[in-house]
Amino acid sequence: MTTKTIKYPASVDKTKIMQYVQPPAGNTERHISVQPLIVTSGVTSSFECLKNYYIRDFGRGPEAAQRVIEMIFRKKFKKTMNWKHNLWQKTVALTVKCRLRSSQTGELFSTSKPCSFEDINRVYAQAVEEPRKKDAYQYVQNIRSGKNMGFPLYVSGAVLNYLGAGVDENTMYMLDGTRRIMAHALAHRQYITIMLLIFENEFSPLIDTYTINAVKKGIAELSWFKNYQSIPLLGLKGQRSLRRFDLIDMSLLRDQVVMDFGCNVGQASIRAIQAGAQKVIGIDNMPDTIRIAKDIKKIMGLTAVQYYKIDFNSSKFNLIIDKKFPGKADYSFFFSLYRTKELTQRERLFRYCISKTKKGIFFEGHANEKIDTMEYYDWLFETFHLKHEFLGWGEETIRPLYFIPLQQ
Ligand SMILES: C[S@@+](CC[C@H](N)C(=O)[O-])C[C@H]1O[C@@H](n2cnc3c(N)ncnc32)[C@H](O)[C@@H]1O
Repeated sequence: MTTKTIKYPASVDKTKIMQYVQPPAGNTERHISVQPLIVTSGVTSSFECLKNYYIRDFGRGPEAAQRVIEMIFRKKFKKTMNWKHNLWQKTVALTVKCRLRSSQTGELFSTSKPCSFEDINRVYAQAVEEPRKKDAYQYVQNIRSGKNMGFPLYVSGAVLNYLGAGVDENTMYMLDGTRRIMAHALAHRQYITIMLLIFENEFSPLIDTYTINAVKKGIAELSWFKNYQSIPLLGLKGQRSLRRFDLIDMSLLRDQVVMDFGCNVGQASIRAIQAGAQKVIGIDNMPDTIRIAKDIKKIMGLTAVQYYKIDFNSSKFNLIIDKKFPGKADYSFFFSLYRTKELTQRERLFRYCISKTKKGIFFEGHANEKIDTMEYYDWLFETFHLKHEFLGWGEETIRPLYFIPLQQ
């Protein structure tokens, strides 16, 4: 079979981030404007971005960021935040290079060269407390000596709207980093790089339309399973919804290694990354499918996922996988694969999946209402001597989904 090659632009244009604005939500924002210019990183999961992120007075990790967001709702929006348990799984982090200028005069600090808060603005100088100023002046020394101080942390209006904010989607609110922003202005820097948390459906509008359309066309032309998987990060809507991931406790995947057997174009692999998986190995055999999975990985700049083209019908499939990935996964996805009619050694493959997985397998059945019954899968798992927990139906009343725990 020959595979058609999709033509992509040489690099993904990530300058559409320029449409985001920082509203005058606080004193610093009213005097120091942070204007996004270009996305400088690939997609990172919010968990990865936040797990070691320390916010003064609030602590470390996603929980600390949640507390700051709660404070923004209370103090700035005068609203109660409607927290959603899956927020961090539906948001991703990007680094963004921004330009710094005076919000009041529009002048670049690299041109005006302020030496003090008074030079930035007298009203601002009066509003900032002395200890903060002292820290900021110290940070100026750190910047000049090239010390890495981490990125100020922002969240988009779209993320806040998911929690009920009702603000402009293309805004960005600072969660942490006021002192670093002040210090960059006082160090006469023209640019600052920030970490921006965006909602999953905000990523594809940042990618040029040509690239997105090339992926959509490629998926529509696949030899098997055309337009099958939905991937919100790329605005892809396929036959398969995301319902199965709402039935799974995705928090189990944080910092874990996950294998995705029959990964197709990568929906479940990407979902695992979004849930904070440390590493994901996706395997499929269709050349055009795996090529698109790799294209999507490249467009999103994902580093924690590896896709391999391996035929489960090969007599040596286990050796080939073990060579590429010698260890064991913590969790595996075995979704809509067992009864795929082209599989010639399904039992051997499933036994291999069991032997290759430490903690548990998420298993989804197929869509034939007469065959893919709970009775059938109860029987199947019994033949493998596996305990199993029914999680619900992957799609409406079809595709039963199970968790198979493998630890005693
Ligand atoms: C019904 S789809 C399920 C895809 C994905 N697991 C999901 O649930 O969204 C079955 C997948 O298994 C892959 N597949 C079928 N036979 C295979 C084989 N012999 N070796 C590797 N992958 C295979 C197909 O290419 C396809 O992507």
